[in-house]
Amino acid sequence: MRAVRLEQYGDPSGLVPADVPAPTPTAGQILIRTAAIGVGGVDAVMRRGTLVRVAPEGIVPGSEVAGVVEQVGDGVDPGWVGRRVWATPGLLGGYAEQVTAHLDDVTELPDDLSFVDAAALGSAATVAHFALEHARFAPGERVLVRGAAGSIGISAVELAARRGAAAVAVTTSSAQRGERLRALGATHVLDRNGAGDDDASYDVVVDIVGGPDQARFIDRLAPNGRLVLVGGVAGFPPDDFGAALIRSFQQSRSFATFSLNTIAVDRRNAARADLLRAAARGDLTPVVHDVLPLDRAADAHRQMDDGAVLGRIVLVPEG
Ligand SMILES: NC(=O)c1ccc[n+]([C@@H]2O[C@H](COP(=O)([O-])OP(=O)(O)OC[C@H]3O[C@@H](n4cnc5c(N)ncnc54)[C@H](OP(=O)(O)O)[C@@H]3O)[C@@H](O)[C@H]2O)c1
Repeated sequence: MRAVRLEQYGDPSGLVPADVPAPTPTAGQILIRTAAIGVGGVDAVMRRGTLVRVAPEGIVPGSEVAGVVEQVGDGVDPGWVGRRVWATPGLLGGYAEQVTAHLDDVTELPDDLSFVDAAALGSAATVAHFALEHARFAPGERVLVRGAAGSIGISAVELAARRGAAAVAVTTSSAQRGERLRALGATHVLDRNGAGDDDASYDVVVDIVGGPDQARFIDRLAPNGRLVLVGGVAGFPPDDFGAALIRSFQQSRSFATFSLNTIAVDRRNAARADLLRAAARGDLTPVVHDVLPLDRAADAHRQMDDGAVLGRIVLVPEG
């Protein structure tokens, strides 16, 4: 089958199309013929190899696919064959025509949601939903989404707005992307430093960026405000970032990390199914920046490295 391998950590040219053996589903797994493959910020972080090197070079990246079940492993109901699904194979294996996934990591798609839209939303919207829950977001609160132009941020903006936030501020480096985010529910657009048309404080900060400016955003929390670090597209925060919390002791601010891995499988899958149904109804917006052939995964990563992407790029196998 056709796949894209990471032959070398570093720049996107390390992503090389190749013919590789198709995987076989083991007990509890299904085999999916992919129709759409999400290219996530996590893939770019992993490809650069600066934060983590999860495996020797030669791995197939990709953690999110949508397609049709072709085969089932031992212990799986054969009735799954032919169903349209979203699935994650884990952190690796997605940039391929055929992908195996454990049934715990599979969600059946509503009939009227496209594979491309499912691949754009299945992971990001679920992360955004539980990040807001982890932050104990309540209607009427003010929310700041840092790094809002990516898929997780877009869903966090839309979910916070639809669930009654009093304000939803976003950080973005692009005025044009800021306008698109306003159309999805953002009320204020700030630059990456947090400067812009709102200098107030926030009850909740959903932070997908991390990195050297972390303390600046802890300082934007209102009394009893909660910052939840969901991603690290700018790398690790500096060691002394917690000093901003300690200095503001009397404001009872909180900092937390959040990983979807800590959410029980049944809750995660139920929430994802709900979110995909919401998307099929038009109540949640898949933002697809570009659709490219699978072989052009390196071009997708170039666009991400150039900072030109709003939402997700989706790869489609050509076979
Ligand atoms: N917690 C979880 O369970 C979970 C699950 C999956 C992924 N993740 C993490 O989420 C992150 C990817 O999320 P994503 O795909 O939504 O994000 P993304 O598209 O990679 O990036 C989001 C936005 O951040 C801004 N940005 C990029 N570099 C920046 C920098 N150096 N400083 C400030 N802003 C910067 C860019 O917007 P502008 O140019 O407009 O500013 C970009 O569009 C990864 O770190 C991944 O590991 C977490």
